[in-house]
Order: sequence, then C-alpha cells, then structure tokens
Amino acid sequence: MKDVAISVQNLTFGWSAQKPILKGCSLEIPQGEFWMLLGNNGSGKSTLLKILSGLLSPQSGECYVQQPLGFVFQNPDHQLVMPTVGADVAFGLVSEGLSWPQVRDRVQEALSAVNLLGWERRPIYALSGGQKQRIAIAGAIARHCPVLLLDEPTALLDPETQGELVEQVRSLVKSRGMTALWVTHRLDELDYCDRAFILEEGNITKEGPPQELKNYVIQSTA
Ligand SMILES: Nc1ncnc2c1ncn2[C@@H]1O[C@H](COP(=O)(O)OP(=O)(O)OP(=O)(O)O)[C@@H](O)[C@H]1O
Ligand SMILES: [Mg+2]
Repeated sequence: MKDVAISVQNLTFGWSAQKPILKGCSLEIPQGEFWMLLGNNGSGKSTLLKILSGLLSPQSGECYVQQPLGFVFQNPDHQLVMPTVGADVAFGLVSEGLSWPQVRDRVQEALSAVNLLGWERRPIYALSGGQKQRIAIAGAIARHCPVLLLDEPTALLDPETQGELVEQVRSLVKSRGMTALWVTHRLDELDYCDRAFILEEGNITKEGPPQELKNYVIQSTA
C-alpha cells in the first residue's frame, strides 16, 4: 500500500448557509501520483484547493495534506513577487534560515528541475506565461515540497506551452516521488494523469483512469 499524500473526508463548505459549495466531499490521493480534478465553472474546484492549502477553513470534515505544499495559481502574475527569477525562487526559502550557499544550491536544483538552469538573473517581466508557471513550480521544488496543488495552471497558455507544462509536471512527479493535484477544464490534459476526479453538485461523483473519465464527460455533455 502506498502512503496517502492528500486525504479529505466529508468536507462541507459554503459562503452562505443557503448555497453550500462542498456537501460532504471525500477523496484520497496516494503519494507519488499525478491526479486531476475536473468540474464545471463554479462547481467548487478552486474552493476545494484553497481548503487543501489552508487558505480557507471548511465548516466540517477532515483534511490532510503532506507538508510543506506548493500552490500554483492560474495566473502566475498573482504569485511571482520578486524582480528576477533567482530572487523569486529564493524568496520562499527566507523563513528556513539557510546559509547563502545552501540557498544558491536549492535555487539551482529547482531551476534545473524545470529546465531553466542558468536563468537566475532573468527579469520576471521578460518571461512567457509558461516560463512563469515553471518558476512558480521551481519555488515549490526549492522548498522541497512533496505535494503540488495546481489550479488551472495552463488556462492562460497557448496549446504548445500547455502540453510542455503538463508533461513537465508529470515527469517531476514520477522522477521525484512528488504528488500533484491539477485542476483543469481541458480533456486533452487528462492523458497525462494517473487518475482523475469529477466534482459535481458539491461531491466527487466519479473517479477513475483518464480514458474512463473522458468517456464519462463526453457522454454527460452529449
Ligand atoms: N469569495 C467568495 N465569496 C462568495 N462566493 C464565492 C467566493 N469565491 C467563490 N465563490 C462562489 O463559490 C462557487 C465555487 O467557486 P470556485 O471558484 O471554487 O469554482 P471553480 O470550480 O473553481 O470554478 P472555475 O472553473 O470557474 O474556476 C461559485 O459559485 C463562486 O461564485
Ligand atoms: Mg477555479
């Protein structure tokens, strides 16, 4: 049996009592796997990710995520805060009390993991959307996060960069034993994951391998 990296039991959450968003939602993701979460606009995918990351507290239920976790937003401009690549990746290490050579090694290791080694001095404003997403992921790798939560990270990317990013996350998960939960609308991205869930009406209504989930979505929207 693999260890569980992410576990949620009977989560409930709503912005008001009249309009519950999560209604007893449960899921489990084993360590070392790449899972995706699908659901219509407004179904509560971002809300669930925010609860998993501790940004929101559920009204009831249990939530466990291996720590520290890395969160990748839909829009990297909401996440990258420093002027250069190296400073941004190092920024997340400030609270760890590392020496300068340790910080430099961690930044290099993380940039190499996302194939951007040597990019330390590049200004953030000069990066493409896909490169910015890779820098956000490098920030999590520098912190040695075992878990990555990604909320529609390809929403602003063109199709080619979209494919590169999803492939890169899959290879990071497989080469480093990380666990990733990736929220998406795009059925073509499902091919890269190990398994996926569908969130509907406040609950996980379907869980399975990519092809099964694709067929389910295609049939339910036909
Ligand atoms: N801060 C907020 N205050 C009140 N309602 C909110 C707030 N944030 C989200 N909601 C509502 O909660 C519901 C779930 O939103 P959420 O962003 O989790 O959906 P989503 O599945 O991520 O949608 P999308 O696919 O559009 O990203 C929506 O009806 C949304 O309007
Ligand atoms: Mg969302």
